[in-house]
Amino acid sequence: MTDKLEASFPEDEREAVYRAIHARRDIRHFVPYEVDETVLQRLLEAAHAAPSVGFMQPWDFIIVRDPATRRQIRDHVSAEKEKAGAHYEGKEAALYQQLKLEGIMECFVLIAVTCDAARGGKKNLGRATMPQTAQFSVCAAIQNLWLAARAEGLGVGWVSILQPGWLKELLHVPEPIELIALLCVGAAEHFPKEPLLQTVGWRSRESLKELTHQERWRKPMTSLSQLISRIEPLNQQLMDQAQLRLDSLTKPVGSLGRLEELAKWLVGVTQQSRPRLPRKVVFTFAADHGVTQEGVSAYPAAVTPEMVRNFLRGGAAINVLARQAGAEVIVADFGVAADFGDLPGLISCKIGHGTANMAKGPAMTEADALKAILAGAELALAEKKRGAAFFATGDMGIGNTTAASALVAVLTGARVEDVTGRGTGIDDDTFRRKVKVIRQALAVNKVDAGDPLATLAKVGGFEIAGLVGVILAGAATRTPVLVDGFISGAAALVACRLAQPKPVRDYLAIAHLSVEKGHQRIARELALVPLLDFRMRLGEGTGAALAMPLLDAACAIYGEMATFQEAGVPGKSEISEDVIPADR
Ligand SMILES: Cc1cc2nc3c(=O)[nH]c(=O)nc-3n(C[C@H](O)[C@H](O)[C@H](O)COP(=O)(O)O)c2cc1C
Repeated sequence: MTDKLEASFPEDEREAVYRAIHARRDIRHFVPYEVDETVLQRLLEAAHAAPSVGFMQPWDFIIVRDPATRRQIRDHVSAEKEKAGAHYEGKEAALYQQLKLEGIMECFVLIAVTCDAARGGKKNLGRATMPQTAQFSVCAAIQNLWLAARAEGLGVGWVSILQPGWLKELLHVPEPIELIALLCVGAAEHFPKEPLLQTVGWRSRESLKELTHQERWRKPMTSLSQLISRIEPLNQQLMDQAQLRLDSLTKPVGSLGRLEELAKWLVGVTQQSRPRLPRKVVFTFAADHGVTQEGVSAYPAAVTPEMVRNFLRGGAAINVLARQAGAEVIVADFGVAADFGDLPGLISCKIGHGTANMAKGPAMTEADALKAILAGAELALAEKKRGAAFFATGDMGIGNTTAASALVAVLTGARVEDVTGRGTGIDDDTFRRKVKVIRQALAVNKVDAGDPLATLAKVGGFEIAGLVGVILAGAATRTPVLVDGFISGAAALVACRLAQPKPVRDYLAIAHLSVEKGHQRIARELALVPLLDFRMRLGEGTGAALAMPLLDAACAIYGEMATFQEAGVPGKSEISEDVIPADR
């Protein structure tokens, strides 16, 4: 099959179309230049040639040249920009102040584009089910104008930081007509190669691959609120029934202690009458931390990528312990400050090359924190679809105990020194510095425990945010989550706060009590008793892998032990107390 149809344009003309599309930019810097009226007319004709639903052509164009009117609009936009600036903090706020978001006074002419949604009458073709198609049509016209302008060498800037009602009044636009856009049109100072917002590091272009779906929507969820809305309480009725079964097994009541508690919990979480955990997955997420610049760790940041390579070779502690437990390790890069290329086995969820230094400002933007949470959740949901019966969390990131301590201090209200430990094994001087750096980070970032997402963004880490996603996905899909040590615990705390009042905590078990000081505080806050206390402090998910056989054992006693009735053994009520002691 040929890639060219007979109706296609000749090569050079096709190229010109694509060139206009890719070289079009939003322009805010103009140079003085008189645009020929015939050129202006061509732009309007291009707009007027746009597709419109039912051919309703709902657009009107108001050409504004008067400097006095323009000044009024410019002042209004400046004031609105100032107001909108209140949404941003720290580095983002500073960057926002520097952004030039309009060229109202410098451009040759302003064109306000409106939409008359009533044009074409009530029966206008194609609008019965989607009333917004009138506005969509106007956007198509604007894009035509934008592309034609680029081909003419002219720049267009779309200004939307304004109150449409205010501008309508100024331009005498009647009430039912909607204002869609205010366009600055003129000779551009230059046409940047990429969007200005990408150049200044505000936001980059999404991956087209991620946004392209085959046959049906591939992403299991679209938003944090959707994910959280799926979280439901444990099934208390099934747990009560599980208790009856546990009490009827051939053993004194409660004599298998926490193993029984685990079995009951697994029934309540999974709603299975005989829970089994055939496929276990450890999510080991890696990222770097800008705060290492402050000298808070005994190891250099370069260790993070090396450990990632070690995970993929199967030589790290988590690989060994996961193999022992029959679990699979999913290794994902959430923001290591190194490029791995196409490293087989590594999943890339890279949000950045390490976080920013939290001692100087926010570690990341809230948008990035959210992105990492959703990426972690997506990975977990995909594994669930592939049959994962429970999730374990793990982490790798030089500097991440500093982030975790900061999170725990904010979210529990504890004193920094009470939740800060020795991490990879720092000496007294480094420890004092670490406490000081965390205090500084909390002060600089004006943290607020009531806003867990902002807290995560300000003093958290990319891998911690990813683990928050795994934990939320676990709770949303009735999957038990075995939370590893301190870093994972901090993620659990964030997840619980984010989802409040949803009972995320009920879906969690703390695998082991870490040596890291702040971990006890996390366990207390979540009211969960760690399963093991092995004086471990490695992270990676090692404590979780070590505790996995306990969950298997809980499933086994619950599913395989005989009841008194099945075994034909007289139960407690049928025999005297001293035959089977209540507590061995
Ligand atoms: C509906 C809409 C409203 C916009 N509003 C503004 C604005 O008020 N100020 C601004 O500087 N850019 C605005 N833009 C431009 C976008 O920021 C810009 O298109 C985006 O960053 C991509 O860059 P590019 O157009 O150069 O490819 C707007 C774009 C659209 C489509």
